[in-house]
Amino acid sequence: MKTTLTVLCENTAGFPMKIMGEHGLSILIERGEERLLFDTGQGIALLRNASSLGKDLSQVTRVALSHGHYDHTGGLSDFLDVSPNATVCAHPDVFIERFARFEGPTGPQTMSIGIPFSKEALEEKGAAFDLSPALREISPGITFSGEIPRPADWKTWDDRLVVKDGDDFRSDPFLDDASLIVDTAPGPVLVLGCAHAGLHPILEHVRKETGIDRFHAILGGTHLGAGTQEDWENALGLFESCGVEKIATSHCTGFHAASFLAGHLGDRVSPASAGVSFEF
Ligand SMILES: [Fe+2]
Ligand SMILES: [Fe+2]
Repeated sequence: MKTTLTVLCENTAGFPMKIMGEHGLSILIERGEERLLFDTGQGIALLRNASSLGKDLSQVTRVALSHGHYDHTGGLSDFLDVSPNATVCAHPDVFIERFARFEGPTGPQTMSIGIPFSKEALEEKGAAFDLSPALREISPGITFSGEIPRPADWKTWDDRLVVKDGDDFRSDPFLDDASLIVDTAPGPVLVLGCAHAGLHPILEHVRKETGIDRFHAILGGTHLGAGTQEDWENALGLFESCGVEKIATSHCTGFHAASFLAGHLGDRVSPASAGVSFEF
C-alpha cells in the first residue's frame, strides 16, 4: 500500500508554484484510501497550499493535533469550513492557555500562543472531539502516541514557553505533546509536531508501547533549534540507534541543527518544506 506524506504548511516553501511558507506545521497523510491531517499550521497557508497542490481537504475527515500551539492548530477553523464534520484527535490539554515570554523590540513581552479557538466554537462548526491521553490507533495503520511519560529529571528545552501558575508562570509541561506512527511498506514512519516532550522520551515510549524498534523515517519538528550541540549529538545517536534511513526535519529544528544532521548523515537528511511530498 502506498503512503504519501505531503507537507502543507511549514516555515519554508519547497515547491516553486504558488506555495506559501509560514511559521507552523501541517502534514497531509494519504495511506491507501485513508486521509488524515496532522496539524493545521497557523491558518494562513493551509487552504491555499492544499489547493495549489491539488489536495482536496473535503475528503479528510480526521485531524490529529500534536499539541495546542497556534502554529499547529490555527488552521483548524478554516479546515472545518471545508470539512465540517471532521473528528479532531488530541490530548485533552490541547486547549490550555499558553504563552511565550521573550525580549521584544520594546522590552520583555508575553504573547499568547495557545490554540486560538474554544472547543465550543469548533463544535459549533461541526467538529467532533476524540480527546484522550492514551496511545491509540486513530485510523487504519496510523497510531497517535498519546501522552509521553517523562524521566524524573525531565526538563523543557525551551524556558520561553510557559503556562499560567496562579499570578505567575511556569514552564509548559507539554503533556499534550504527541506524535504519529504511520505504518508504511518500508517500515514505520514517526511524524513529529514539535517534539516538546523530547526526542528520547518520545522514542522510548513508542518503542515500549508498540514494540517497534526500528523506524524507516522520522519527519517533522524536532525542537532541536532550542537545544545545544550536545542535544544535537544525542539526537544523532538516537536516530542511528533506531536505524532511521530518512530524516526530514523541519519547522522548529532550525537551520543550524538541520545543518548539523545533514553534515553527519548526508542525503539521508532533507528539508520537509511546504509543498514537498514523501512517498513510502
Ligand atoms: Fe511549532
Ligand atoms: Fe510548539
